[in-house]
Amino acid sequence: MPNPPREVIVPLDFPAKPDALRFLDLFADAGERPFVKIGMELFYAEGPSIVNEAASRGLRVFLDLKVCDIPNTARGAMASLAGLPIDMVNCHALGGLDMMRRAREGLDSRGGRRPLLLGVTILTSIDNARLNNELGIGGGVGAAVVKLAGLAKEAGLDGVVCAPGESMLIHQTCGSDFVTITPGVRFPDEAIDDQHRVVGPDDARRFGCNYIVVGRPINRAVDPVSAYRRYVRAFAGKD
Ligand code: C5P
Repeated sequence: MPNPPREVIVPLDFPAKPDALRFLDLFADAGERPFVKIGMELFYAEGPSIVNEAASRGLRVFLDLKVCDIPNTARGAMASLAGLPIDMVNCHALGGLDMMRRAREGLDSRGGRRPLLLGVTILTSIDNARLNNELGIGGGVGAAVVKLAGLAKEAGLDGVVCAPGESMLIHQTCGSDFVTITPGVRFPDEAIDDQHRVVGPDDARRFGCNYIVVGRPINRAVDPVSAYRRYVRAFAGKD
């Protein structure tokens, strides 16, 4: 792929609209238009209005709702979400091939430009012990992630959410244009919070990650815009 996407996505991990808008104002005042992620916390509190507000400010939106249900319901959920001004949306790959296919169908049902559909592989909060002992899935997390990424591709999804270290193998097995989106990125001088497998933005680039999702180091920084710019520079290989 000549120009693989390489961007920093900033999650709006806030409980309500006023906090999110204050945060976005900082970026608008600095002339920055970050790609934002709206997850369950904010979307369940505010609904589509927060998505419309971000889009009306010229921001691209990744709606991170991790849909997982029976195929028919997943299709309906995606058909509803397809009416929103979003650029990316996701569903759990563990919902299975048919569910992912129907989710894609739901997005296509509106016609016109559709958002990218990503599959969530294995949550980064699940380690080998949990996978084997709690969920009863054998083998390691890495093998399960690659298997689920293949399934997502077969279902017609555009890429997956995965850990940075899994990105390279996924591109090798699913193709370089199959998008990888990775949380768990930190500079060495920052707290890793509750992320377990953390890499720096320069390594994320070397692993071929297309988008990195960086939350607390940016949205809890004293100066969020400077923190964002530091990640953008490093992920672009300019530091
Ligand atoms: O603050 P931090 O950088 O850890 O935030 C990471 C963001 O990515 C959060 O919005 C979190 O919900 C999301 N995420 C994650 N791990 C996944 C999927 C999503 O951390 N496996």
